Amino acid sequence: MSVLKGKKVLLGISGGIAAYKTASLVRLFIKAGAQVQVVMTPASKDFVTPLTLSALSKNPVYSTFYDKEIADTIVPNPDAKELWNNHVELGLWADLMIIAPATANTLSKMANGSCDNLLMAVYLSSKCPVYFAPAMDLDMYKHPSTLESFQKLQSFGNIMIPAESGELASGLSGEGRMAEPENIITFITLDLEAKLPLKGKTILVTAGPTYEAIDPVRFIGNHSSGQMGFDIANRAAALGAQVFLVTGPTFCKPLYPTITVYPVISAEQMYNQCHECFPKVDVAIAAAAVADYRPKHIASQKIKKAAENFSIELEKTKDILASLGASKKHQYLIGFALETENEIENAKLKLQKKNLDLIVLNSLQDEGAGFGKSTNKITFIDKNFRIEAMDLKAKTAVAIDIMDKVCAHFMTI
Ligand code: CTP
Repeated sequence: MSVLKGKKVLLGISGGIAAYKTASLVRLFIKAGAQVQVVMTPASKDFVTPLTLSALSKNPVYSTFYDKEIADTIVPNPDAKELWNNHVELGLWADLMIIAPATANTLSKMANGSCDNLLMAVYLSSKCPVYFAPAMDLDMYKHPSTLESFQKLQSFGNIMIPAESGELASGLSGEGRMAEPENIITFITLDLEAKLPLKGKTILVTAGPTYEAIDPVRFIGNHSSGQMGFDIANRAAALGAQVFLVTGPTFCKPLYPTITVYPVISAEQMYNQCHECFPKVDVAIAAAAVADYRPKHIASQKIKKAAENFSIELEKTKDILASLGASKKHQYLIGFALETENEIENAKLKLQKKNLDLIVLNSLQDEGAGFGKSTNKITFIDKNFRIEAMDLKAKTAVAIDIMDKVCAHFMTI
């Protein structure tokens, strides 16, 4: 999944021939899952029409502070005759802004704080990262005043997407062509990925149930769907981590290619796989519902129906989380506690016994918590016994809360 998915992108277009390429740029952002709003300088409308960009972005396109003609875009607005385009609102809406093409004139205005059109007002009001993709003729690109604009804008923290070399509209050939839309998307994607809070971190997550064989056709299992563990793995990957996901049988699928899935069946297999991964990771999160007992002997043939009563001798499985706690060095270790009574006290005991940094308590007394549901209600308890009860939320939102704790941990070390 692209890092651009769900991002709110404000595309500022200034008046250069490369503006015609912004139609492709909008399409590529939308294809990557971003939402796009477009602000144009008046001059850019000579090169590409607002209607094209509105149709592609599925949003009105803005170019003036006061818009009488907004109805020419595809989204009809009953207040079209009296529409005030709020530059502050647009600037604050965006997760990122990209000015492409950025002409010498627009770059100079940005560098000097001129504010004679809506795009400049939006730029000056924005608080998000701003990228700019210059486009101009080669001598303009090398002119000291242009170089000064580049330098000044970068000193403001704006990010330059350098122009490419090739044939220019003037007929000359050299540096100054706006980066191709595909390259702009790649540039921004790589830049956003490199800045993700868990970039460079490796996280082990366990998920799902384990199945403990009785005979070749039967097992002891539980109702865990694996959803919570997969949501945690997905969130960790979205934050830039490399993830090792050790999972028991499940129908869940990971969303990111940076998640390496290790499918296992039994607690013993999960134990072995976790210990193989553990020395390489910075964080381990045990969300699996591991069987506590398994049949002492696995019948090699299907057990036939015979006596009226039948019992299976069980033996304890290894406690994976406790063993990770015992061998942990630098790793930040998070476990779950599924409780039905004396929840807080039992969770605290587990936290200590398994040498955890944080425990995520699920109480089956809470409505909406537990197996087979899309929601969960958790309480965090840290190793100083600080307790934080969270609201009932979708499991994806719970995964965000858990990964926020991981990010907060890295900010304190
Ligand atoms: N866990 C584990 N290996 C096991 C059993 C549990 O890694 N053999 C992990 C779970 O993934 C969870 C935590 O330990 O993160 C607590 O699991 P839970 O079932 O609540 O507790 P148990 O330790 O099994 O104790 P009990 O069932 O007696 O409450």
